[in-house]
Amino acid sequence: MLQSHLRVFWPIFILASMTLALTDSINPILPGWNPDPTILRVGSDYFIATSTFEYFPGHPIYHSTNLVDWELIGHALNKPSQLSLFGTPSDAGAWAPGLRYHNGTFYLTSTVRYVYTYELRLFPRSFFVTTTDIFSNEWSDPVYFDALGYDADLFWDINGDVYNTWSGINNAIDKIYGIYQNKIDITTGNSLTPAELIFTGTLPDNSSARPEGPHIYLINSTYYLLIAEGGSGPAHQSTIQRGPSPSGPWENNPANPILFNGANLSLPVQYTGHADIVQAPSGEWWGVALGVRPQTEGDFDHIQLGRETFLFPVTFDSDGWPVFNHGLPLSTEITGVELPDKAHLSTFYDDFSSSSSSIFDNSYYFLRTPYKPFHSLTTRPGFLRLLGNAYALGDRDSPALILRKQTSYAERFETVLDFMPNSNLTEAGATVFYGDFAHNDIGVMGGANGGGERFIVTRLIRPAEQVGPWALTTTNSTVTTITYTPLSTKSDPVKLVIVGNSTSYSLGFSEGTYTDLDAVEITYTATFDSVSMSVMPVNDFFFKGASFGVYNTGNGRPSLTPADFKYWKQVPGG
Ligand SMILES: *[C@@H]1O[C@H](CO)[C@@H](O)[C@H](O)[C@H]1NC(C)=O
Ligand SMILES: *[C@@H]1O[C@H](CO)[C@@H](O)[C@H](O)[C@H]1NC(C)=O
Ligand SMILES: *[C@@H]1O[C@H](CO)[C@@H](O)[C@H](O)[C@H]1NC(C)=O
Ligand SMILES: *[C@@H]1O[C@H](CO)[C@@H](O)[C@H](O)[C@H]1NC(C)=O
Ligand SMILES: *[C@@H]1O[C@H](CO)[C@@H](O)[C@H](O)[C@H]1NC(C)=O
Ligand SMILES: *[C@@H]1O[C@H](CO)[C@@H](O)[C@H](O)[C@H]1NC(C)=O
Ligand SMILES: *[C@@H]1O[C@H](CO)[C@@H](O)[C@H](O)[C@H]1NC(C)=O
Repeated sequence: MLQSHLRVFWPIFILASMTLALTDSINPILPGWNPDPTILRVGSDYFIATSTFEYFPGHPIYHSTNLVDWELIGHALNKPSQLSLFGTPSDAGAWAPGLRYHNGTFYLTSTVRYVYTYELRLFPRSFFVTTTDIFSNEWSDPVYFDALGYDADLFWDINGDVYNTWSGINNAIDKIYGIYQNKIDITTGNSLTPAELIFTGTLPDNSSARPEGPHIYLINSTYYLLIAEGGSGPAHQSTIQRGPSPSGPWENNPANPILFNGANLSLPVQYTGHADIVQAPSGEWWGVALGVRPQTEGDFDHIQLGRETFLFPVTFDSDGWPVFNHGLPLSTEITGVELPDKAHLSTFYDDFSSSSSSIFDNSYYFLRTPYKPFHSLTTRPGFLRLLGNAYALGDRDSPALILRKQTSYAERFETVLDFMPNSNLTEAGATVFYGDFAHNDIGVMGGANGGGERFIVTRLIRPAEQVGPWALTTTNSTVTTITYTPLSTKSDPVKLVIVGNSTSYSLGFSEGTYTDLDAVEITYTATFDSVSMSVMPVNDFFFKGASFGVYNTGNGRPSLTPADFKYWKQVPGG
């Protein structure tokens, strides 16, 4: 389907490029949290990779032939030898990838922060993985660079020299960020030249400037250095420099910042930055960047979807400087170009009856790297079976939890659970999940006397105010609210629903046999403000967004009680 679309599309695209058409709601092109996009074109195929933090597998690879319809084709880090997220804190893990292609090989640079603490101020070593067939989902093990930093970017100069360019700090005490670079041996990742500071950004050079996300391009014999700066919040922005070599010296674009919605906090898209650009076969240029859609005007509290990926046209002014989105603020609409109509957000429905059995849809994630499989689609055909382990959702480990990103602020998640717990430690259910310290669960658990009676447990966990510093969040860094609602049967299936709108979520359930369940009215046990999914502990990171999930836990003890889920349904729009 994508191939035939391509044939129809390109002639239209080229002819229409001079018209001033409005393409509705094209953005975000990757709805749901997809921060730090990097884009690449090889032939007629475009690829985007984004960040995944403590989720496994890491770094989704999306494919498109028309820049509008994107298909998730796999993940670059999908084996424990590539990504061993054991005990990794929330929002550490796999950061900002860079996707590049050279001489038949795809390269994905990444930085994985396995740990962080307030005292440990150094960054880990970045690395790259490679593949010659990006559709195979088979990538190499990491090849590590020497330097400490993040947002690594590979650039091949015309003379064959390979540059690594990244964001790092001057030393562990001042912690002033800058763009560093060296030449490397692309077979080993080893340094060939010392790391040099090549740029300090356009903002005052102090610890809050945060120049990062560098990308080097060679366009018409001129080298360009595109960076993000201003920090990852509302001041996030993109600026560009140019020079005679991949290392500068840099001439500042007088139009900088070339992407910055933070000058007008009423604009519907905010936090814009971390851009990457790509040239279409027709010669035109396009860019991708991250942006946030705050749901309350003038109030940034409701950003539970996190940072999503946006597309915009790139043109060049008469002086050779790139102009992002025709100089207009990044928006959910794109003006000045014509693109295919974007398919409306569609319902995701998985009845777990796939004949390809143990193959999961690749949009599902685990929390951290599973020690061993805890799920099966074959043990009880037609059901997703989760075997509970000792970890619960707030534990900084790998609970029996399967997640899928929320894709729209207004979205309904629904599943049906078949579960007969035998104790008050045995629990399975559904969650709307941000991280260890922000998740909201509605589950089924057993009673204290083990007689087979069951309760709905509704558990809201949100960060307490005024905690930190980051990573030192301790057991009292969250506020938990729990309610119990008795179920009337010991064995009937239980439908669990989570309904999100722009500013709140509601959790509900119904109980009944498979034949009558759909007719049973939902009982809502909690409604809460989604600010609790948008504000992290003071000084902590907020890099991800919300996901829906299903889980089975022994709450500190291994559990032998399987939890069987009949389907997974996500309906954008409610
Ligand atoms: C390109 O790849 C081929 C095959 O791997 C190799 O023989 C050749 O040396 C490479 N060329 C460059 C310029 O790296
Ligand atoms: C950095 O400089 C900017 C602009 O002068 C200022 O607003 C900010 O507070 C400074 N940050 C630090 C950490 O000194
Ligand atoms: C590159 O140079 C060609 C020829 O001068 C010109 O047509 C084209 O617009 C330039 N492209 C960019 C991106 O500056
Ligand atoms: C800021 O954005 C809002 C919403 O698009 C718009 O109504 C307003 O005119 C803008 N303000 C300025 C100063 O551009
Ligand atoms: C669970 O049940 C046991 C008795 O079997 C009781 O001692 C314990 O307090 C109960 N725990 C909770 C959290 O209800
Ligand atoms: C967290 O613990 C500290 C020290 O033990 C205590 O002073 C503080 O009141 C606690 N905060 C909460 C929200 O329980
Ligand atoms: C969202 O849902 C809550 C709870 O049902 C409701 O109070 C609120 O009005 C809804 N907001 C919108 C924008 O629909």
